[in-house]
Amino acid sequence: MASLETKTNSPEATRALGEQLGRLNNPGDIIALSGDLGAGKTCFTQGIARGLGITKRVTSPTFILIREYEGRLPLYHFDAYRLDGPADLEQLGSEEYFGGGGVCVVEWAERVATALPEDRVEVELQRVPGEEELRFIRFKSTGRRSRVILEELKRVLYPGD
Ligand SMILES: Nc1ncnc2c1ncn2[C@@H]1O[C@H](COP(=O)(O)OP(=O)(O)O)[C@@H](O)[C@H]1O
Ligand SMILES: [Mg+2]
Repeated sequence: MASLETKTNSPEATRALGEQLGRLNNPGDIIALSGDLGAGKTCFTQGIARGLGITKRVTSPTFILIREYEGRLPLYHFDAYRLDGPADLEQLGSEEYFGGGGVCVVEWAERVATALPEDRVEVELQRVPGEEELRFIRFKSTGRRSRVILEELKRVLYPGD
């Protein structure tokens, strides 16, 4: 499987990273985001949205649970923070979104992991104590498609390697 580790030094750098990923995304891609409150999951999703050509402002879907945005491809933005577990996600009709023609981004994915498609790009965002704007960001693939995505992302981020 493919993996990739990087860091960002500002919210804009995290958005720019998300944008690179969003540009590569195809219909049906699943992006599973984990990390504490304030780690930058929504910020990263704003970047993905930009990469999908979405101009509408992307905000946290915490109370809505799912938000949909129109772009080059639709973005389905999930937030599992208020869910009790995988069954709650299924209750929202997640299966239809996952099998659909859009890109699904799930915040707090670790809370609902067993209800997610097996092949997904996992992104873990981590704050660093004492460093207000630094974030460690780790990508991991879990299947064939997510591996291709990460190989392509590597090529975009580190051309010539
Ligand atoms: N490098 C960075 N990447 C992302 N967000 C950052 C960074 N540095 C500071 N921040 C701030 O951290 C917060 C991240 O919030 P948000 O994206 O909503 O996190 P989450 O969705 O993980 O709870 C924002 O206030 C953002 O401005
Ligand atoms: Mg969030």
